[in-house]
Amino acid sequence: MNTYSDPRTSRRAFLQSTALGVVAAPFLAGCHSNGSRTAKAMTRGSFSIDGNQARLFSPAVTAPLKIMVVGDTHLFLDDVRGEPFQEFSGRMSRAYNQTKHFETKAATNPQQSFERTLALAQRTQVDLFAMVGDVFSFPSEAAIEWALAKLKESGVRFCYIAGNHDWHYEGMDGPEVALRAEWTEKRLRPLYQGNPSLMAAYDVQGVRFVAIDDSTYEILPEQLAFFREQVASGRPLVLLMHIPLYAPGRPVGFGCGHPEWGAKTDKNWLVERRPKWPESGHSATTIAFREEVFRAPNLLGVFSGHTHRMSIDCVNGIPQIVTEANATGAHLNVEVLPAAASA
Ligand SMILES: [Fe+2]
Repeated sequence: MNTYSDPRTSRRAFLQSTALGVVAAPFLAGCHSNGSRTAKAMTRGSFSIDGNQARLFSPAVTAPLKIMVVGDTHLFLDDVRGEPFQEFSGRMSRAYNQTKHFETKAATNPQQSFERTLALAQRTQVDLFAMVGDVFSFPSEAAIEWALAKLKESGVRFCYIAGNHDWHYEGMDGPEVALRAEWTEKRLRPLYQGNPSLMAAYDVQGVRFVAIDDSTYEILPEQLAFFREQVASGRPLVLLMHIPLYAPGRPVGFGCGHPEWGAKTDKNWLVERRPKWPESGHSATTIAFREEVFRAPNLLGVFSGHTHRMSIDCVNGIPQIVTEANATGAHLNVEVLPAAASA
């Protein structure tokens, strides 16, 4: 049974709302006292978005907090240590060298964008600087060291989940899961600050930010199990991933979990020099994960990147907001706020 909202209706409603510059819609927020069997009655919350300012309201939230969501900076700086890998980093090292600021349209670049965004996060005293992947165009030691130094210097609390480019050296042989594991260990590991790289939870003011790595377009069984544990905890959750989840009406390239994803619809495997998506499409685990995300009663919202364009979808009342690429300085300012339960 298809339980998702009609994409034509929801897109039309969204376009009508955004004409006013603000979207507000209800979403579900609830909790489980001891797992799914004894779920308490659902409570209604809402969300709003105005430009790159998003607000999530929920009766399950007890104290206000603010985070900044940043993805797709595509840092490409490199040094002599990267020379042996130029065969694999060449295309992406030239991909986003010069960009235009997302608001002023003035010339900028990924390093400047990252520094300015982080400085803004510091100035506005965000509770969490949430990086949702493709911070790097390839696993450059120089770029990772530079970003880590900036992050530590800022004193801002941060979390990181990988995107498909962060660990990918184009043309390098091997299954993607193995390559991700290898380059995470060799290069990206310090960004996780002792947390597991495939899935982690960060508690901020009573709200749990759940980071899940879907940078291979697939969810592993242990990640699904982890997500189920978070839902069963009953805490208000916010999900952070690089690739957004498929929403009705969106094309195959948009997100993870599209029913037509697979070898027949993979247009970029030659350009990106990676294995073609599988003939059989997504794993049952990935499909189940997507279904369960958009059914989770205590999930306040999903934030991701990957498409480089800001977008919002609302599936079963749960907002999924994609941030524009931080290579242009773009980011999302997100507030999570208490709200009285509605009748
Ligand atoms: Fe990207």
